[in-house]
Amino acid sequence: MSLVSLKCTDFRCIECAELDFAAGNNLIYGPNGSGKTSVLEAIAYLGRGRSFRGATTRQLVRHGQNEFVLFGRVERAGRKIGIGVRNSAAGLEVHTNGEKRASTAALAEALPLQVIDPDVHKLVAGGPEDRRRFVDWIAFHVEHSYLELWRRFRRTLKQRNAALRRGSGANDLRGWDKEMVELGLAVDDVRRRMLDRTRPAFLATGEALLGTAIDFEYYRGWPADVGLAEAMAGAIQRDQQAGASQVGPHRADIRLKLDDRQARKMVSRGQQKLLACAMILAATEEVQKQLEWPLLLLLDDPAAELDGASLQRLMDAVRRLGCQVIATTLEADRELFADKPSLFHVEHGSIQASP
Ligand SMILES: Nc1ncnc2c1ncn2[C@@H]1O[C@H](COP(=O)(O)OP(=O)(O)OP(=O)(O)O)[C@@H](O)[C@H]1O
Ligand SMILES: [Mg+2]
Repeated sequence: MSLVSLKCTDFRCIECAELDFAAGNNLIYGPNGSGKTSVLEAIAYLGRGRSFRGATTRQLVRHGQNEFVLFGRVERAGRKIGIGVRNSAAGLEVHTNGEKRASTAALAEALPLQVIDPDVHKLVAGGPEDRRRFVDWIAFHVEHSYLELWRRFRRTLKQRNAALRRGSGANDLRGWDKEMVELGLAVDDVRRRMLDRTRPAFLATGEALLGTAIDFEYYRGWPADVGLAEAMAGAIQRDQQAGASQVGPHRADIRLKLDDRQARKMVSRGQQKLLACAMILAATEEVQKQLEWPLLLLLDDPAAELDGASLQRLMDAVRRLGCQVIATTLEADRELFADKPSLFHVEHGSIQASP
């Protein structure tokens, strides 16, 4: 799969851009504040329906305008897919192949992508939510029933939490508990299998990037020595006090280790970035294997926080994946890729293909 073209209107500082991308390597370069990350953010928005910088619609719409529109053409096994989003105060509209879609899942299916940006270390150093989202991304692409399962679990959790806030006692909660245990165990089962299948690629990529042994432990969201029903029964008082369910797969985490040290607190920023990259590249490898076509990888300023040798190892690992790459750098750094990339120059939000 590759993103063949992008049309972007009134997104961040970009008034209008039409770009044709190569199926292999693409490099967008330009000075600080020119709009490089904005281009990647637009592409990622097209594949996710949200900003990887956590921006709101208002922040994304070009100042003085009311909406932004993105349109992309994706080619997959000889088939062309058109995907579009329009976003304004009225809400987000999603289209694929000219048909209106109810959810952003249609975007993720049409344009699966991953992002490595200067904040990527937060996948290791930050809270567990991004790490859960990371496992769920693998599950979404590998097991089609997972999205519905996860939605049902989330709905049940919301209803149980609402009942807790209304002051419901253990008896009133019984109906929700039964459903939450059933769905929670199913979510946990998929996540565990996803992490098991990704582990070999993760360990190998981590060692290639960091030159030392790495590992992770999956924490499922309740203690290892009890069942979910039992853990929930034991947590009922804490649930009632908090007005929210304290145990379950919504509390799961991945605990990363480097040389047996907890990566969240004990390793450097550059090492956290490399660990996060290892997670992302391993997940990309696993999903590519399942889908049997290459994915899109967005690399925003890949050199940030990395020494020359680490950057080289990262780019070697990216090349081995064989995915489509769209990267940004300050200068036209052709050396970043072993093969010549398609080049794009950005200045003041205006982007031109350069020879
Ligand atoms: N909604 C918006 N409307 C107009 N301009 C915006 C909007 N949001 C951000 N900008 C501006 O867009 C410009 C480009 O930002 P961007 O982060 O894409 O730059 P960049 O080329 O990645 O820079 P750097 O090299 O520093 O990472 C910035 O000057 C920013 O202030
Ligand atoms: Mg930037």
